[in-house]
Amino acid sequence: MHQVEFLDTTLRDGEQTPGVNFSIKEKVAIAKQLEKWGISTIEAGFPAASPDSFEAVKQISAAMTKTAVSGLARCVKADIDACYEAIKDAKFPQIHVFVASSPIHREFKLKKSKEEILDIITEHVTYARQFFDIVEFSPEDATRTELDFLLQVVQTAVDAGATYINIPDTVGFTTPEEYGYIFKYLIEHVTSDHQVIFSPHCHNDLGMAVANTLAAIKNGAGRVEGTINGIGERAGNAALEEVAVALNIREDYYQASSAIVLKETINTSEMVSRFSGIPIPKNKAVVGGNAFSHESGIHQDGVLKNPLTYEIITPELVGVKKNSLPLGKLSGRHAFVEKLKELQLDFEEKEIAVLFAKFKKLADKKQDITDADIVALVDGNEIENPEGFHFNDLKVTSNDDDTVTAIVNMINEEAESVDVIANGKGSVEAVFNAVDKFFNQTVKLLSYNIDAVTGGIDAQARVSVSVENVDTGTIFNASGIDFDVLKAGAIAYVNANTFVQKENAGEIGRKISYRDI
Ligand code: KIV
Ligand code: ZN
Repeated sequence: MHQVEFLDTTLRDGEQTPGVNFSIKEKVAIAKQLEKWGISTIEAGFPAASPDSFEAVKQISAAMTKTAVSGLARCVKADIDACYEAIKDAKFPQIHVFVASSPIHREFKLKKSKEEILDIITEHVTYARQFFDIVEFSPEDATRTELDFLLQVVQTAVDAGATYINIPDTVGFTTPEEYGYIFKYLIEHVTSDHQVIFSPHCHNDLGMAVANTLAAIKNGAGRVEGTINGIGERAGNAALEEVAVALNIREDYYQASSAIVLKETINTSEMVSRFSGIPIPKNKAVVGGNAFSHESGIHQDGVLKNPLTYEIITPELVGVKKNSLPLGKLSGRHAFVEKLKELQLDFEEKEIAVLFAKFKKLADKKQDITDADIVALVDGNEIENPEGFHFNDLKVTSNDDDTVTAIVNMINEEAESVDVIANGKGSVEAVFNAVDKFFNQTVKLLSYNIDAVTGGIDAQARVSVSVENVDTGTIFNASGIDFDVLKAGAIAYVNANTFVQKENAGEIGRKISYRDI
């Protein structure tokens, strides 16, 4: 039995998801939660990409006490230097250098021969080792690289001092059998006078990222890479929570374990969902809302007699909240603060006062305030934009010609109340047209989703939107929560427009991935 290390790249590869723009504060909060979850290494970003990425990696490096911090660098000395500057104060610093190795990347992207690629690897892994004891090397698009050349590439990186070898399935092309064989082959053939750990890094284009990751473990991988909730560009990365739970449930088969604190899984997943603006699908393995509900009569009967008849993962294992003690109209500040503690939501006194006032308002409208309501309340508070514009109220009326008129009341930057009026074919269109009028910028709505925070007729609605800043092509996700679904939508759309406005004013830098520069 061996223990598999976990490297989380939610803040680097995960942030490449269109619409996901974590602030530095959110990145540090996610990193702290990942540390609590038991991740051994956090890939905190790509420091050379932008001053914002650099600063985020620096702050995460300072915040981690047990977890190693890594940063991405191309085989470019300036990237390695930037990474060193951002990470040098981390308790456990690491670097991840990469260059593409597949024929298609060699010919069309890099325009380099095989020999040139090998020289680049020797030069840059050797350079990185001057600053870091732990150097991870990745041949990008490894799974579409000729196996004999991949062996040469990996041997070259190891000879230059690489301590982790990552085999990225960059385009999500491989299959479990094929990927498992690549690990077996490399582990058998690579020679080294120092310890080398191999890791999978899988994208989910064919829906096999988690299966491929597990196949790599079965064939000797000692560390895995992935993201929370499987976020990442295109179809995303391997979902680490699925890998961790699979290892726990099928330890017998994989003969491997992890140091992941599984009861922190739901907290971790919910935080990433909140900050990324990407709702968790109900049927998502391990963390989806339906993962532990039993609709059919036969299943319910079996589960009541013995849960293990139809449930291989218990809700307790992954930390599903039990909703032990719903709060209500008569609950005081003390009970509210205790509930925040129970839900591991840490706030300063000033923030608690704001949240408690919101809680009281909510309790006037809703009899039982569940854990999910409290999380939503906190959520709504986090996504509000106190310094900028915000939505205040709205009214809609239906017209005889089947159109709808919306009057949206906004509070502008000068804290003045402004009414904006617009028509639409339906209520949502009318409200969004009014918000468009207020901001006067070119935004395209890409998606609009409604979800109920809890069950019941008095459930709060969460609306998530995705918009494109037409002038720059940047996509932003945002959400809003309210009892009234139209108001929740208006809040979400205002928040998304606020991001666009900040980008147009140069307050948010364009998100840059390693592919852009
Ligand atoms: O998917 C990929 O190839 C990557 C590399 C930077 C390792 O993310
Ligand atoms: Zn990747």
